[in-house]
Amino acid sequence: MEKMKKNNQVSLEEMENQRQFIWQIRAKNEKAALESGSRPKAYILTLGCQQNEADSEKLSGMAEAMGYEITQAPEQSSLIMVNTCAIREHAEKRALSMIGQFKHLKANNPDLVIGVCGCMVVQEHRIQDIKRRYSYVDLLFGTASIHRFPELLWKKFQAGKRVLCSEEEEYLVAEGVPVRRENKLRAWVSVMYGCNNFCSYCIVPYVRGRERSRIKEAILEEVKQLVAEGYKDITLLGQNVNSYGKDLGESYDFADLLAEIDEIPGEYWIHFMTSHPKDATRKLIDVMASSQHIARHFHLPMQSGSDRVLNAMNRRYTFEKYIGILDYIREKMPDAVITSDIIVGFPGETEEEFEETLAALRRARFDMIFSFIYSPRKGTPAAELYCQIAPNEQSRRYDALLMTQNEISLASNECLEGKTLRVLCDGPSKNREEVYSGRTEGGKIVFFEGKPEHIGEFLEIDIERGDTFALYGRIKNISEG
Ligand code: SAH
Ligand code: SF4
Ligand code: F3S
Repeated sequence: MEKMKKNNQVSLEEMENQRQFIWQIRAKNEKAALESGSRPKAYILTLGCQQNEADSEKLSGMAEAMGYEITQAPEQSSLIMVNTCAIREHAEKRALSMIGQFKHLKANNPDLVIGVCGCMVVQEHRIQDIKRRYSYVDLLFGTASIHRFPELLWKKFQAGKRVLCSEEEEYLVAEGVPVRRENKLRAWVSVMYGCNNFCSYCIVPYVRGRERSRIKEAILEEVKQLVAEGYKDITLLGQNVNSYGKDLGESYDFADLLAEIDEIPGEYWIHFMTSHPKDATRKLIDVMASSQHIARHFHLPMQSGSDRVLNAMNRRYTFEKYIGILDYIREKMPDAVITSDIIVGFPGETEEEFEETLAALRRARFDMIFSFIYSPRKGTPAAELYCQIAPNEQSRRYDALLMTQNEISLASNECLEGKTLRVLCDGPSKNREEVYSGRTEGGKIVFFEGKPEHIGEFLEIDIERGDTFALYGRIKNISEG
């Protein structure tokens, strides 16, 4: 058992090795700072999902440890990292266009190091693209090598030429990488990495490797630490958190992990994403229902309401099984917020099958959905299907889907009018200073009149109005004085 636990981890020696590279670059940067009077700056651009945001917080953590000041201004930086996503064509186009935009910065500052990492550059054809067409990219590595960032950067400085790390790296769990968190209230904690599901449309298993779980002790320690530091909303991350622990060869599962985290004393919420419906157990729902800290929010991607399409997607559940889970969640937690992901225009999706998805939305009554137009991903089975749907038809279905869901979202938010909800206050909204925003346990955004002392606090808000995308209210019983 002990052997299995250690097997999926990057060795302590390897992590120590990386710390040595951190110190070497730090010394170089401190010397440069003494000469120029200011610390070199690093800009890290993140595209993609929460997993990538979490990875970028590690890149920033390592960059900071290496003596860089993290900045939002690429034009002032000595190091630019683009952490890419490959989930849809649009994400890749955006990454390539951003990389393109940084080219002129290099012309002004030949010492600038431009690095590209993340999911897009795990794919061989993209590695070749960068090699051939983006000659000014100095550093390239995939998702398995994030913890080797200091070593690869050092190599770049030493060699004075491009370091394109495209060798097959083993996908492991790296503990002890420095993290620089973007937000003081809300934090990500990865519980597992990778995916074994191979949904037929999805690139993730090809660019993130097989499932590997962190040991529970490391997760519990990180959550304890975050609660002690005052974090109020902690999201446990994984492509399919419900398979947590399976690879560790123990009977301890995700529900057990949630139950143990819930015992950590403090005032905080635990969220998690994403759950795959095929693995969502009653045990998990029961643990949530009886917990103190686990937010009553389920993000449970349905993808389609048609059994034929679900099968072609290799999702391994039927709509009936899916709706059974929703019914059980609502039986145990009537106020639970349920959100979902839907793909329209999957190859071969007929008008009738699309209508089944619309009907499924009406039956499921999600609070909110993320909807996507199917995008063929090179190397996935669905991309090889000959019955691709025309883009204009995909768009029409997408619009119809949104119209149907908007009505449902509006009704679900209107239902909350007159209720009092607990809201974690983020701070002033972008457009109007006196209007503050926060989020409910279910992740719904709420606007209300707030004050600076409310930031980071849990508030009771009387909801006065709900529209399709947000709730509006006022703080209950503000104590005067
Ligand atoms: N692991 C999560 C999802 C990660 S990707 C899960 O299984 O639920 C987030 C969402 O992107 C997916 O739920 C899916 O709806 C969408 N998606 C993935 N691949 C896609 C593709 N090729 N085209 C369009 N949408 C896609
Ligand atoms: Fe992609 Fe499916 Fe894995 Fe989610 S479960 S990451 S959709 S392959
Ligand atoms: Fe996430 Fe995009 Fe990679 S969605 S896992 S960053 S392909």
